[in-house]
Amino acid sequence: MINHYASKKQEISRFRESDIAIKLISLFIMKSILNSNYSIHFQEETYLHLNKFIASKQPSCIFILVDENTMDHCYPLLLPYIETVARIEIIEVESGEEHKNIATCSGVWSAMIELGCDRNSLLINLGGGVITDLGGFIASTIKRGISFIHIPTTVLGMVDAAIGGKNGVDIGQLKNQIGVVNPPEMTLIDTNYLVSLEKKQWINGSIEMFKHGLIADREYWNEMIQTGDDYLSEKFTSLIYQSIVIKDHIVKSDPFEKGPRKSLNYGHTIGHAIESFCLSSKNHEPLLHGEAIAVGLFLESYLSYVHTGLNKNDFDQIASWYHQLGFQLEFTLTEIEEMLELMSHDKKNVNGEIRFVLLPSIGFFVTDQTVPVEDVIKSFSLL
Ligand code: GLY
Repeated sequence: MINHYASKKQEISRFRESDIAIKLISLFIMKSILNSNYSIHFQEETYLHLNKFIASKQPSCIFILVDENTMDHCYPLLLPYIETVARIEIIEVESGEEHKNIATCSGVWSAMIELGCDRNSLLINLGGGVITDLGGFIASTIKRGISFIHIPTTVLGMVDAAIGGKNGVDIGQLKNQIGVVNPPEMTLIDTNYLVSLEKKQWINGSIEMFKHGLIADREYWNEMIQTGDDYLSEKFTSLIYQSIVIKDHIVKSDPFEKGPRKSLNYGHTIGHAIESFCLSSKNHEPLLHGEAIAVGLFLESYLSYVHTGLNKNDFDQIASWYHQLGFQLEFTLTEIEEMLELMSHDKKNVNGEIRFVLLPSIGFFVTDQTVPVEDVIKSFSLL
């Protein structure tokens, strides 16, 4: 179901003063990250960049894509900052990975066209990974491409989905099968949107932050495992910033994933299969993306220990981190075989062979690794 609302700027503006009272004050410098074709801005300053862009582009219409959660909690924070005479139209889609599909795109494309979208329109994607993945794809394809801006409102969106220009949708159970690599004009990171986030969602996003440490920076991994769950602390905001810097650095070196960018898929070969499997299984609760990736990171660390020389201490540290998360998962052999079938559709595969990213040690990675199927099956027995 797609809802459309015309913006009610005056009414929404009333939220501003009280909401800003809980604003976090950033004591350290989060410098903008400027790339040749897009930029990432942080905290208060983001809105100066947003308005500068709007002033120079003079869009014919600004569409804001939200789900029911970001419509309630984030849109009222954003709207008062937008300075424009352009028409603002809000398009709301249902939240959840199960709506990240072509049917939702089709609804949004139709709504935007009915509302007069033209090539000078701007789409602002205000939400978590599902909204930025969907919205980036919608904007990249409607009228053969219009400008778009991501404003991620979850930790996962901030450190991963909204960074690096990957946009797309799922096909049935298979994740991100249809999409494009096309960066937004800018990604705006304002951690004030995180204040309303449930703890489960903080953990969901932090898993990708742990992953960044595992593939690229042992010191960062150590900091992450030593940091408690004071998610609204200055320290955690700084860890979010560092995570974005790590991801951006990797993406810059290989925007189209021919080499080093593959490292970002660490934990995702098994993790995506578990996520897809649980989404449609009667015997398992759906997992959040980060939860499934945490399992993938643990099991692929076992494969790294067996095949690429990850040492026992490092593996034990990763195992103990995983067990502290407290997930209770168990799969039958038949279920594992179904997941192996899902892994056989992984985008990194070559000639139908499952290719893994593995670690020789924490902070380093090797790509395009094959391992015997029996070892993948065996890894599940560690859960
Ligand atoms: N989420 C993996 C990537 O952006 O490459």
